[in-house]
Amino acid sequence: MTNDEGTRPPPGENTGNLPALAPVIAIDGPVASGKTAVGLNLARDLGYRLVDTGMMYRAVTWLALKRGIDVEDADAVTALAESARIDLGPPAADGTPTISIDDIDVTRELRAPEVDRSVSFVSRLPGVRRAMVERQRSLAREGRLIMLGRDIGSVVLPDAPVKVYLDASPDERARRRHSELAASGNGRPLDDIKRELDQRDEMDRQRHVSPLRPADDAVVIDTDNLTLEEVIERVRSVAGAAP
Ligand code: DC
Repeated sequence: MTNDEGTRPPPGENTGNLPALAPVIAIDGPVASGKTAVGLNLARDLGYRLVDTGMMYRAVTWLALKRGIDVEDADAVTALAESARIDLGPPAADGTPTISIDDIDVTRELRAPEVDRSVSFVSRLPGVRRAMVERQRSLAREGRLIMLGRDIGSVVLPDAPVKVYLDASPDERARRRHSELAASGNGRPLDDIKRELDQRDEMDRQRHVSPLRPADDAVVIDTDNLTLEEVIERVRSVAGAAP
């Protein structure tokens, strides 16, 4: 992984008049639970780096599809995950993390419907997870970052000082994804979105390796009746309260 030192304040420097914040914030949760929006806002406010681990699994999936590798072929996909040059690039103008494969920025390709449909097969392969988790841990050692995923608090960084698990009902998450897609000009029927979301949730929860679940010591926030600002405020207060 390469690193972007970009706009981060020097280590140890606090931003604004926040209390001393923990250097690593783990945010987990199911599809469309609000992790990205919350992570982006907090990372911007705190001057932290945002690492979205879902994009790493999406990058391996995209590459497998591009090379015509069967996403259920564990050996071939694992070999790809171990050898691919997947790098986190500098954030885009709006702070969104970017990702490149062999020096080509593939960020925009990673939300394609075919990647959505196949990523749960790839992310349940133990060898793929091993390769990604190793990279995620080495990124986390640099500190001052927010890491988004499914298993960050439970498996990747069990010692993270701040762990948050964002949740929301399936209906609410489908509605959010539906409006996001409509706003980006890629509108799709709500029923289709809900069905795909249920399938991905089911696969993420049922898989043997690192199933989706809150870490025992995570603070679980049910976001159904909260605005984005209210969720950010809660995560921020959890982070400020960490030892
Ligand atoms: O957050 P996302 O939708 O971009 O994640 C894509 C897929 O990757 C999702 O089906 C779950 C999986 N994933 C995972 O298994 N572990 C992570 N730490 C992050 C994502």
